[in-house]
Amino acid sequence: MDVTRIVIDTDPGVDDAIALFLAVASPELDVVGVTTVSGNVNVDKTTLNARRILELVGRSDIPIARGAAVSLSGVPGNDASEVHGDDGLGELTWPEPSVFESPENAVSLLYRLATEGPLTIVAIGPLTNLAHLVTQYPDVVTEVERVVVMGGASYHGNVTPAAEFNVWADPEAAAVTFAAGWPLTILPLDVTHQATINDDDLAYFRSLGSEVGRRSADMLEPYAQFHEEWRGDRDLIMHDALAVYEVIDPTAIEKEGVLVTVETGGDHSRGATWFHRSHRHEDSNVRVGVSVDNERFVRLLRERYRMFG
Ligand code: BDR
Ligand code: CA
Repeated sequence: MDVTRIVIDTDPGVDDAIALFLAVASPELDVVGVTTVSGNVNVDKTTLNARRILELVGRSDIPIARGAAVSLSGVPGNDASEVHGDDGLGELTWPEPSVFESPENAVSLLYRLATEGPLTIVAIGPLTNLAHLVTQYPDVVTEVERVVVMGGASYHGNVTPAAEFNVWADPEAAAVTFAAGWPLTILPLDVTHQATINDDDLAYFRSLGSEVGRRSADMLEPYAQFHEEWRGDRDLIMHDALAVYEVIDPTAIEKEGVLVTVETGGDHSRGATWFHRSHRHEDSNVRVGVSVDNERFVRLLRERYRMFG
């Protein structure tokens, strides 16, 4: 089996946590680093959450490097704690993790990992670290094998009518990341909203009897309540786990070649992503996710949860 070497740039976040669990449980992936960024909650909390998650799965060997505290425009606190809880992980009680953060910062860890072997960057938070990476180390664009981003929306945002959270939190960084020229796959809300789990899946996670299964169901409960108030149902959108799924099985998500631009101005449209589809762009370095078979995704997610003892 080909194993893909990945680093996950993340702002945990309950759906980020599920993505991390899926990644470490998948033999198709070798997770060689986790970098954190301010997003769903501030970077102190996202870094602590990354430590909690890797401690829970017994992966103290994976370095965790802290990244940006503020967006490129210098704005702190564009958070989503109303979705993920004040601590970012559904406000459960956690033991103090013994897994430490690396003395290296996120950008230097990303660059080092990119120069040490074929690397796929899976970016599931605001893109501030990636923008700093390409600005400080422009040659990384040719070093990296592929970048997979969860972000953007063709049709409707989830923070404003125009903007999806990860792009809205740092539109300038998204613009730099999307224009960098590296092989890029973007999974916007158009496709992540097709990837959902429900109460049966939460019951299944609990039934496994593992701490990962129980905590996943517990941390997703407030997320479910938020979804119910927001959308009127308890279908839980697995935005970030879908990005990991795409790397586990790149054939699982239908994609098309596009040109992409990000709106950084505008009174109402800041953070909007424009996927140019009016012409065919099959030779573009940018591919955008269009559709996914949710039953197949959930089947794999359930299967991987059985890996936790
Ligand atoms: C994205 O925003 C965050 O709240 C989620 O973790 C996900 O990365 C979805 O818009
Ligand atoms: Ca996220």
